[in-house]
Amino acid sequence: MKKIKTLFFCQNCGHQSTKWLGKCPSCQQWNQFVEEEIRSSDPGARLELQLNELPQSIAAITADEKDRMTTGIAELDRVLGGGIVGGSAVLVGGDPGIGKSTLLLQMLQNLAENGSKVLYISGEESAKQIKLRGKRIGAASPNLLILVEIALESMIQHIKSLAPQAVVIDSIQTVYSSALSSAPGSVGQVREASAQLILLSKKTGIPVFLVGHVTKDGSIAGPKVLEHMVDTVLYFEGDSGHAYRIIRGMKNRFGPTNEIGVFEMRDNGLQEVSNPSAFFLSERPEGAAGSVVVPSMEGTRPILIEIQSLASPTNFGMPRRTAIGVDHNRVSLLVAVMDKICGLHLSNHDIFINVAGGVKVDEPAIDLGIVSSLASSFLDRPVDAKTVVFGEVGLTGEVRGISQMDIRIKEAARMGFNRCILPKTLARDVSVGSKMNLIKISNLRELLAHLF
Ligand code: TYD
Ligand code: MG
Repeated sequence: MKKIKTLFFCQNCGHQSTKWLGKCPSCQQWNQFVEEEIRSSDPGARLELQLNELPQSIAAITADEKDRMTTGIAELDRVLGGGIVGGSAVLVGGDPGIGKSTLLLQMLQNLAENGSKVLYISGEESAKQIKLRGKRIGAASPNLLILVEIALESMIQHIKSLAPQAVVIDSIQTVYSSALSSAPGSVGQVREASAQLILLSKKTGIPVFLVGHVTKDGSIAGPKVLEHMVDTVLYFEGDSGHAYRIIRGMKNRFGPTNEIGVFEMRDNGLQEVSNPSAFFLSERPEGAAGSVVVPSMEGTRPILIEIQSLASPTNFGMPRRTAIGVDHNRVSLLVAVMDKICGLHLSNHDIFINVAGGVKVDEPAIDLGIVSSLASSFLDRPVDAKTVVFGEVGLTGEVRGISQMDIRIKEAARMGFNRCILPKTLARDVSVGSKMNLIKISNLRELLAHLF
């Protein structure tokens, strides 16, 4: 009898081990190892997946930016880097109920309306349920085909025979390959299914969209390798308790990363927000202490965001530090710098920082915004409502230059701001229209002198 080979896989990160382990040495998670059968190399099955291509000169290969297919949703095109690339694999991740299925169905409907034949494969919902969602978002094109299926082999058959212009698999965790005995959603199955689907897409040039579920800590359930295998990874940010949805390109082989698309969930599906700066500032309490606006670069686009801080005296010995949307460690560092350099003794204060609108900002330019809003809350003095600030803060309290200052200032001017506090650098001089009052500073002491 043929011996069945098994290995233990971490269900969180895909780490493999020959024996069971309590704690994963790779991702440090407990109790994640599950025994799975590993597939003996079946040459027949593998051969079919070969791309059968010959080496060719790069000069002879033709590729054009125009080959991209537009999704009909400008914000989605933006995160994809300008539209869908043929033969690409896109992973769309996000919390349950955030709108993954809705967005992809809307996209397919748009493609179908423009005359493409498209296929939506669902393993989670019945055809009737999909129809009901389709009714809300107005998806009724005869070119939009729905297939309820979880068997990988059958999916591949249908994709090959239909040859659609785009395929959505909702979700990759429900796909089951009969070649493996492990359950759908396990590391082995997810890896096998995605490998086969990605190869099929490369071979046929059909773009595939894989919906991926997200674990508690916010990463795609199943192996991390899935993210390496696909060309583009898109994540939904924001929470389902609010109407806004932000979709961010975490990885993109065909465009800039960290680009965001902003949507609003309405009763007829996801609607694009074409002016995100106005959207994020729409509920700003003007003239309140602790609120500061920063022009932040999200991918290639500047977006004005509001940073809010609250510093209040600690009741118990241990002060609390809570940061939502910005890096926790960065905040601790800035608090220490403010304490030492500016004499703002925040050490016995609870500190809460939040980026309004649920965006996550991960760039040094917001340092000055964090410091300004903290100082404003601590001193209980509001920052002028028509002022924006940006710049990186160093450990000695110096303010450093950052990238694309002109674009940021232009966006602030467009939104009606008239004063900007920015780093004084010789390296990159800013040249913008006269309307903006530019205040160039080189350290935090100067910041406090100009801020209020
Ligand atoms: P869904 O796309 O099913 O989320 P996911 O696939 O990421 O799990 O979105 C479901 C949520 O969206 C649900 O809470 C209802 C809401 N929704 C609307 O508010 N308006 C709509 O038009 C649709 C289709 C859904
Ligand atoms: Mg869904």
